Amino acid sequence: MTTPKTFHVKSFGCQMNVYDGERMAELMAAQGMTATDDPNAADLVVLNTCHIREKATEKVYSDIGRLRKHGADPMIAIAGCVAQAEGAEIVRRAKVDVVVGPQAYHNLPRLVADAAAGLPALDTDMPPESKFGHLPARRRVGPSAFLTVQEGCDKFCTYCVVPYTRGAEISRPFAAIVDEAKALVDAGAREITLLGQNVNAWTDADGRGLDVLIRALDRVPSLERIRYTTSHPNDMTQELIDAHADVEKLMPFLHLPVQAGSDRVLKAMNRSHTRDSYLRILDRVRAARPDIALSGDFIVGFPGETDAEFEETMQLIDAVGYAQAFSFKYSPRPGTPAAEMAGEVPMAVMDERLQRLQAALARDQQAFNATAVGRTCRVLVERKGRLPGQMLGKSPWLQSVHFVTDAAISDLVEVDIVAAGPLSLSAVERVRIAA
Ligand code: 5AD
Ligand code: SF4
Repeated sequence: MTTPKTFHVKSFGCQMNVYDGERMAELMAAQGMTATDDPNAADLVVLNTCHIREKATEKVYSDIGRLRKHGADPMIAIAGCVAQAEGAEIVRRAKVDVVVGPQAYHNLPRLVADAAAGLPALDTDMPPESKFGHLPARRRVGPSAFLTVQEGCDKFCTYCVVPYTRGAEISRPFAAIVDEAKALVDAGAREITLLGQNVNAWTDADGRGLDVLIRALDRVPSLERIRYTTSHPNDMTQELIDAHADVEKLMPFLHLPVQAGSDRVLKAMNRSHTRDSYLRILDRVRAARPDIALSGDFIVGFPGETDAEFEETMQLIDAVGYAQAFSFKYSPRPGTPAAEMAGEVPMAVMDERLQRLQAALARDQQAFNATAVGRTCRVLVERKGRLPGQMLGKSPWLQSVHFVTDAAISDLVEVDIVAAGPLSLSAVERVRIAA
């Protein structure tokens, strides 16, 4: 196999994979390779994979099949969580050329060279030394950028593969994060979303928490907006909640997964919070920032979940009034404790529960969107809309907002919200805020 000259990175799954995919692309570009949007025209295709549910994992194998069928026969590298979880198995099953885990992708150029030389190229190590020190500097990014500050998970929810695929909780050092934030702003970012599997567990050697980091980023000139995701209820400190009250750049949005509304199910999931302790956290968050948009993750059909227990999830949704949320059917994952649990919920029951849950969440999202009508807010323009002259951006509450304007991508525009749909808002421009 010859050394690839062009490459294409395709990321599946969570925002951290999007971030990792960007960093891998920067690595390959620093080697002199050229990025291409067309996977069928690339010499090297990196599939940056997700292992969280069975469906996500299966996508990898269908993608590999599709690439091979096309006949171009590119070098295929499997990165991400499937690479970590299945390692050599993928090489056997799908004859891919490179396998690289999420903590080892700084070695991608060497692995690609090895594969080109016909050598085995597999690295799923979780080295004590961090990959971040080996990645090239950030160069050009869009108005809204991701920044990984924390990785891994020590919580071991019984359904979840993340503690196995991403390893133990690790926080990046304070100074490295602030430096990367400044580099992102220099490269064009006006909004930064701090990422971590348990981002609010971020801490450093001096015992500082995410609130201190957010307050430091608040002082970065030309950075306009700060967000963070995903958080665990148990790491939601009062200091972080207080930051929502007084850090102006911190956007009024909190993604705080709860997964289920029944204490018995939460215990079986090893969530280490109860329905009540979760609701009390949200009370304090709302006290600090009354207009905050709340978001969550839900799993229906966890082993043994009864109809009555599912109703408790529905009641919790009614009690919270989420602005948006993600919901999934339980998917047993190899190696996790829940995969061994009795009480499998039939697929038809899961389907019905998911439908009801999603209908309730859609109703609440529409209701939340409706409360924005009549409000004035700032929108960070991220891309062109579908209609001529229309641009799209995000409200402080993470809603998509479209409006007619001659503003450019990266502009912050003050708008009046005039109408609300189920998934977006429409607005009229008021004032352009200078960059
Ligand atoms: N089955 C279904 N959903 C899952 N999630 C994590 N593991 C599973 C699983 N085995 C969901 C949780 C988590 C989100 C990222 O994915 O809701 O918060
Ligand atoms: Fe998975 Fe639970 Fe860790 Fe989230 S907190 S990554 S759901 S184990």
